[in-house]
Amino acid sequence: MLLENLSYVEVEGYLSEKDVVLIPIGSTEQHSPYGLIGTDFITAEAIAREVGKRMDILVAPTITYGMSQHHMGFPGTVTLSPETLISLIKDVVNSFLEHGFRRIIFINGHGGNINAVNTAFEQLKYENKKGIFQIISWFLLPEVQEMEKMIFGDKNGYHATPSEVSITKYLRPEAFQTKPSSEREEIEKIETYWPLNKEEFKKVYPDGRMNSAPWLAKEKYGKLIMEEAVRILEEKIKKIVKMEIL
Ligand code: NI
Repeated sequence: MLLENLSYVEVEGYLSEKDVVLIPIGSTEQHSPYGLIGTDFITAEAIAREVGKRMDILVAPTITYGMSQHHMGFPGTVTLSPETLISLIKDVVNSFLEHGFRRIIFINGHGGNINAVNTAFEQLKYENKKGIFQIISWFLLPEVQEMEKMIFGDKNGYHATPSEVSITKYLRPEAFQTKPSSEREEIEKIETYWPLNKEEFKKVYPDGRMNSAPWLAKEKYGKLIMEEAVRILEEKIKKIVKMEIL
């Protein structure tokens, strides 16, 4: 059930039975020459929408920009500052709260968003807002990571991972016609500090990958990994829906 396709009358009907909404959030940032700039929001959106469909719960429009400052050395990347992202999350949550939503769950596709989103939740709680505010990052679910390890071994890395690239390949195969098909044998294992600014990031990760082998991505892996993420998210959200709001 997509919020964007409903009328306010239908939303009133939904709220008379349920108070949960899923909000996909990702980023618009480089994912190496092998992956799509929209990777993080395309994956989060598809996973959230599939969960929403199976559970018959509302999915809000996707937040397609995130905190991507360290990727700004690569064209096409668009970033919000952490302050902007905190304000954006607060405004979105407050809007849903005002109409009676109480379980507001962000399905996240980008690691750089996590700190700011949690800070927004803490600030909302400090302002005595009633409800359950959660961010669930599909790529950090232990069951998903286990599957990724089985498929890609130690070549998944941290950014432009073959897992996320596989999911986008499964969802948008046509976008990969123009991406390089060359494969490399070795991947660099780089140890560095964090956070990095855009120049530091480019120095350590010149083509935008972070210890990953995105050329290993395949549609069939994307289907498997997405299915596992959806399955685990369903379990987690079922628990949140049953939780008592204090
Ligand atoms: Ni990503």
